[in-house]
Amino acid sequence: MIFDEFSIKKLVRPVPDFPKPGVVFRDITPLFQSPRAMRMVADSLIQRYVETEFSHIGALDARGFIIGSILAYELNKPLVLFRKQGKLPAQVLSQGYSTEYGEAFLEVHADSLCEGDSVLLVDDLIATGGTLLAAAQLVRRMNARVHEVAAVIDLPELGGSRKLQEAGIAAYTLTA
Ligand code: PRP
Ligand code: ADE
Repeated sequence: MIFDEFSIKKLVRPVPDFPKPGVVFRDITPLFQSPRAMRMVADSLIQRYVETEFSHIGALDARGFIIGSILAYELNKPLVLFRKQGKLPAQVLSQGYSTEYGEAFLEVHADSLCEGDSVLLVDDLIATGGTLLAAAQLVRRMNARVHEVAAVIDLPELGGSRKLQEAGIAAYTLTA
C-alpha cells in the first residue's frame, strides 16, 4: 500500500473553538475509524523504525497510546506509558508543561527506564511541542535518552517541531 499524505490529511477533522475559543482542534478520530488509513500510518512508521536501534517505545496519553501500542507490538519493544497527572498507581516522576489550551503535568513510573535506554516517543500530533518536550525531560530524568519522536501530524505554525529540533530532539511526522 502506497502512503498517501493527502488521504491521511482528509481524515483529520478541524474543529473550531475546541476546547477553547480560538483553538482549531485537529480531530484524528476519523483516521482511527479508517482501517486502510491506519494500516498506512502503521506500516509507514514500522518501515521507518524496523531496522533502527532503540530499546523502548514511549507512548503519550491518550492518542499516542493507540499508535504506540501498534508499534510496540509490531517492533517487539517494551511499552512505557506517559500519562496525564494522577493516573499512574506507583511512584512517578512528574513534569509540568503548557500547550495551546492550558497547563498540565505529565507523569511516568519512576522505574520504567534506566541509564542506557533509548526511547522512541510516539504521539498523534505535534502542536506547541510542550507535551513531547515534557516526555523528553522525563526520559532524561531517568538517565535514558530520546531516540526520536514520531507523530502522524505536525502543526508547524505552532512551532513544536522547531522547538524539539532546537532542543536537539529529532522529530519525524507523516504529515505537516
Ligand atoms: C493533544 C495531542 C498531543 C498534544 C500536542 O493532546 O494528542 O498529545 O495535544 O500538543 P502540544 O504539542 O502543544 O503539546 P491533549 O493535550 O489535547 O490531551 P488528550 O490526549 O487528553 O486529549
Ligand atoms: N494539541 C494542541 N493543539 C492541538 C490542536 N490544535 N489539535 C489537536 N491537538 C492539539
